[in-house]
Amino acid sequence: MTEAAPQVVLAPAQAVARAYSIEDLRRLARRRLPRAMFDFFDGGAEEEATLRDNRAAFGRVRFVPKVLVDVSRVDTRTALLGAPSSMPIAIAPTGAVGLGWRNGDVAIARAAAAHGIPYSLSTSGTASVERIAEEAGGRLWFQAYIFKKREFTMQLVERARRAGYEALMITVDLPVGGKRERDSRNGLTIPFSISPRNFLDFASRPAWALPMLLRGVPVMENLLGYTPEKVSSTGLASIAGRNYDPSFDWDGLKAIRDAWPRKLVVKGVVRPEDAERLVTLGCDALVVSNHGGRQLDGAIATLDALPAIVRSVGSRTAVMVDGGVRRGADVVKALALGAQAVLVGRATLYGVCAAGEAGALRGLEILRDELVRCMQLCGVRTVGEIGPDLVVRDNRGERS
Ligand SMILES: Cc1cc2nc3c(=O)[nH]c(=O)nc-3n(C[C@H](O)[C@H](O)[C@H](O)COP(=O)(O)O)c2cc1C
Repeated sequence: MTEAAPQVVLAPAQAVARAYSIEDLRRLARRRLPRAMFDFFDGGAEEEATLRDNRAAFGRVRFVPKVLVDVSRVDTRTALLGAPSSMPIAIAPTGAVGLGWRNGDVAIARAAAAHGIPYSLSTSGTASVERIAEEAGGRLWFQAYIFKKREFTMQLVERARRAGYEALMITVDLPVGGKRERDSRNGLTIPFSISPRNFLDFASRPAWALPMLLRGVPVMENLLGYTPEKVSSTGLASIAGRNYDPSFDWDGLKAIRDAWPRKLVVKGVVRPEDAERLVTLGCDALVVSNHGGRQLDGAIATLDALPAIVRSVGSRTAVMVDGGVRRGADVVKALALGAQAVLVGRATLYGVCAAGEAGALRGLEILRDELVRCMQLCGVRTVGEIGPDLVVRDNRGERS
């Protein structure tokens, strides 16, 4: 009988130093989190067709690299919403991050500030608008959901204004919550409770579960005071979902545009007609997004939706895209198809769930390194040189 080699258990920060791809960080996150928690971050709606297709769409685009270009120096800097960013990447808003790593929102925001890119705080984040501004700094955008009590949303918006957030991002692809079946199957309930169904799952990850038991479950700090019922962090998505306003429409958005004096970003657009109307209404930027495949399953992959939107409004407004970005090469592909920048959700979430701030930093470091290398291999030295001639779609050899 051969003896199994002793397993070397690395501290999370050491382990992420040996992560060479976002997929490596995903594996580490999966190892550290209870299954229900990992699935919450990783999963999508219903059959997860859109979740998969967001990723697959990048595989349908191929590079046609330039050669004999001096790429000894590459500059990834760009301007986003009128201010500098060290690369064409911003952090997408994600809720309930503290369930993956205590103070995970602050950890990601700090990593973004350290890398010189914008960070978006979610309404359903586990750190308040003010705490992120105080503890992280950097370029901050605030993502607002629209509550049935509209005045609650407007109070949050006013808090973001006072705390110095430079942009307000309104997410429009969530009139109601998507059907996330992994969460239901895993017994991720509201309010968060340990049941016979999920007890073994949580008990199997003591490094995650013990602090939850000893220090309590992080709450969605921005939502405190919203409902008389206790806000549980795990229940956040559903609690929030129940309180979002499905009647929010163009008039409601116009009222927000009129009330918010700084940059306004609308996230969750895939139709050129909607993009046109948003530009007319005075939005400063759009995010082509399907919520990372967590809302309408069967929705078009964002990279497939991007070119038509760029054609219709790209000369008049900033178009960003998110969904499925896991590689620096994905950033180059999105820019070649006309995006000004990408947002990343899970890429840094996996990092933070694996090792807190060190993991989020590692995620951004991996993306930056891959972005620089990809630009060099493509023969482009600046973000401005990334154009449609650099890619073909559907592998047919025809340029976009
Ligand atoms: C766990 C999780 C929570 C999210 N929470 C929010 C949110 O609170 N508000 C929002 O506008 N989008 C939210 N999103 C969507 C992201 O902002 C973004 O659109 C998506 O993650 C991009 O896809 P990617 O994860 O493949 O990068 C969430 C996504 C995930 C994975």
